[in-house]
Amino acid sequence: MQIADKMIPGHTVLAPMAGVGDSAFRALCRSYGCSLVVSEMISAKALTLGDKKSRDLLFRRDIERPFSIQLFGDDPAIMAAAAEMVMDYGPDFIDINMGCPAPKITQNGCGSRLMLRPERAFAVVAAVVAAVDVPVTVKMRKGWDESSVNAVEMALGCQQAGAAAITVHGKTREQMYAPQVDLDIIRAVKEAVAVPVIGNGDIATPEDARRMLDETGCDAVMVGRAALGHPWLFGQIESYLQSGRYEPAPAMPQRMEVLQRHARMCIEEKGERRAMLLMRTHAAWYIKGVRGAAKLRAMTGSLSTFEDLEALCATVCDES
Ligand SMILES: Cc1cc2nc3c(=O)[nH]c(=O)nc-3n(C[C@H](O)[C@H](O)[C@H](O)COP(=O)(O)O)c2cc1C
Repeated sequence: MQIADKMIPGHTVLAPMAGVGDSAFRALCRSYGCSLVVSEMISAKALTLGDKKSRDLLFRRDIERPFSIQLFGDDPAIMAAAAEMVMDYGPDFIDINMGCPAPKITQNGCGSRLMLRPERAFAVVAAVVAAVDVPVTVKMRKGWDESSVNAVEMALGCQQAGAAAITVHGKTREQMYAPQVDLDIIRAVKEAVAVPVIGNGDIATPEDARRMLDETGCDAVMVGRAALGHPWLFGQIESYLQSGRYEPAPAMPQRMEVLQRHARMCIEEKGERRAMLLMRTHAAWYIKGVRGAAKLRAMTGSLSTFEDLEALCATVCDES
C-alpha cells in the first residue's frame, strides 16, 4: 500500500486503541510483522493546553516506524495547532479520529459525531493538511446510525480536503462494536475514492483478513481487538496473504515469554507500578482459555511487580 509518497510494506495495520495500544504493544505488533501502527487517540485540545497525560501518549520507539499519531477534536484551528506540535515526535502520518463512539467524546462534537457534521469534518481535515508536511489520514465509521449512513460522502469530502487515506470501520456509531461488519460499505468507499482504503472490523483470523481484502478491494486491513493477547496474529495474516499458509499460534510457554517481553517494554515506558496495572488487563488476554481460570484470574488481578508476572507465567505453564 502506498499512502501519498510513503510505501507501506504489507497489508496489516494495528488499530488505534486507547488505554491499551501504547508504544510497548505497538512495538511488539511491529516485531511480528504488522505493517503500520497508530497511536492511542490524543485530545488536540488537551495537548495544546499542555496536558501531561496527553503528552505522555506521544511516547514512541523508533522500531515502531511507520507510525501514525491519531488526534481527536472538532476545532480546525486547535487540531492544526496540535498536529504541528506532534510533528516534534516524528510521525509518518497524522490520523484524524471520526469514529470514536464514546459519549464523553461525541458529546463534545468529536469522534464519530463529526460524521453528522460533514462540513466541520472537512474543515478539520483541510486545516490539519495545511499545518503539517506528512500525509493526513482519516478513520471513520459507516455512519452515525442506519438512517444516516454516509461513509462514501464523508470519504469523498475528506479526500477533497486533502486526506491521503481513509480507514473505514464498517459499523455505525449506534452499533458500537457489535457484530457484524458491513463489507459492502467498505467496498463502496473503495470504489468511490482514489486514495488507499483500509478496511476495519471483526477481523479475528487470517482468513477474515483475506475475505475483507477480496470482498471489498481495500488496500489493507486494520486489526484491533483480535490482536490483544495475540500480537503474532499480524505475522500469521501477512504470511497467509503471501503464501496461503501460516504457522499456528505459539504454544503457552512461548506466549508467556511474549507476555514478559511485553511487560518489560511497558515497564521501560511507564515504570513498574503503572505498567503492572496495565499488564493485569493484557495478561488476561494472553492466558484466555487456560485451565485453572479462577486461580489465574486472582493472580492476574493482583499483579504488582515483575516477579508477580513471572510467578503467573510459571503457573500458567504448569497448568497448560
Ligand atoms: C479498547 C479499545 C480502544 C479503542 N480506541 C480507539 C482509539 O483511540 N481511536 C480509534 O479511532 N478507535 C479506537 N478503537 C476502535 C478500534 O480502532 C477499531 O476500530 C475497532 O476495535 C474495530 O476493530 P476490531 O473489530 O478489529 O476490534 C478502540 C477499540 C478498542 C477495543
